[in-house]
Amino acid sequence: MAKQLSGAGLRGQVAGKTALSTVGKSGSGLTYRGYDVKDLAQTCQFEEVAYLILKGKLPNQSELDAYKTKLRGMRGLPTALKEVLERIPKNAHPMDVLRTGCSMLGNLEMETSFEQQQDVTDRMLACFPSIICYWYRFSHDGVRVDVETDDDSIGGHFLHMLHGEKPRELHEQVMHVSLILYAEHEFNASTFTARVCASTLSDMHSCVTGAIGSLRGPLHGGANEAAMEMIEGFTSADDAEEKMMGMLERKEKIMGFGHAIYSDSDPRNEIIKQWSEKLAADVGDDVLYPVSVRCEEVMWREKKLFCNADFFHASAYNFMGIPTPLFTPIFVMSRLTGWAAHVMEQRADNRIIRPSAEYTGEELRPVPAISERA
Ligand code: COA
Repeated sequence: MAKQLSGAGLRGQVAGKTALSTVGKSGSGLTYRGYDVKDLAQTCQFEEVAYLILKGKLPNQSELDAYKTKLRGMRGLPTALKEVLERIPKNAHPMDVLRTGCSMLGNLEMETSFEQQQDVTDRMLACFPSIICYWYRFSHDGVRVDVETDDDSIGGHFLHMLHGEKPRELHEQVMHVSLILYAEHEFNASTFTARVCASTLSDMHSCVTGAIGSLRGPLHGGANEAAMEMIEGFTSADDAEEKMMGMLERKEKIMGFGHAIYSDSDPRNEIIKQWSEKLAADVGDDVLYPVSVRCEEVMWREKKLFCNADFFHASAYNFMGIPTPLFTPIFVMSRLTGWAAHVMEQRADNRIIRPSAEYTGEELRPVPAISERA
């Protein structure tokens, strides 16, 4: 299930140890602390999985209740952070807003000792949806949205602030699944960024701010937005097939397909695809879902490339009325758990990460006088 790996991009290199997850090794292909993501997505709420990843065990009922109560109490934003968010223009990218929001939070609520790492992480988990929606609603609708809702879940809190009304049960359930699927993925680019930062003994906000910047790119988290932009340009399944054949002929990269580690499928795709189909039936869609299915068929037939977690997330989020630029910030709301757990793991057994490079530059040479330079 995992590729034979070699070559550029540090493929196939073991860059450290982790007890947090396996990718392409057992179960359906992705496990968190020994549990198959398929089982977690079927039976758990996101907060249970966040607890598992961050604290090492699945919570019992009273631990889960206490954890949810704690998170609910941490949704508010300091006035100074709200003022910063209000100054960021409407046309900013929400990932940049979140990066700034996280960094500003680090100024206001600094992590001064590693003993605070669990609380600092829970605070970010609780208030990242507030940061995204406060800025989005203020810049787009001129509304100072109440971020201290009493919604039961992180996903419900997000949808409530975004749409100005309590979410439907189906949508809250899809958010649980989506956030579980995105929560952790071993040494991916953003997590590795966080671990490199942690290895210098930096603070949690710096590690997460760096990771957000890394996740922003279209080859990583940004793929769900890029996939949406592509599929909404297709008017029917046949139109999608014709246009995709053209893109493949021109050797364009198709976002939401392929993976650095998985060889023939991404276990997260099967799960989110089912939910996308349910949501399509719920909204009476007869374009976006069939278009997405045809894209999947064409890519497999022509290139043996499969959908990764991002592809059907695009249509699923769209069916729930989530604006495309907010897709990758939702990924952050979830992956924050994985990043923070990796930071804690790195801190617990740290050596500064400092690889070497193969030098390809000039031989040693003398510095010419300025008058002799071209
Ligand atoms: N569309 C078109 N061609 C693709 C492709 C895609 N989405 N993904 C891989 N390929 C091609 C590559 O260009 C490469 O062709 P080449 O040998 O002619 O250069 C070949 O398939 C093998 O690529 P591979 O080694 O499997 O990819 P990678 O490990 O270097 O990169 C990704 C992995 C995820 C970065 C890459 O598949 C990609 O860019 N996908 C689109 C972005 C995306 O969805 N990212 C989210 C990842 S969860």
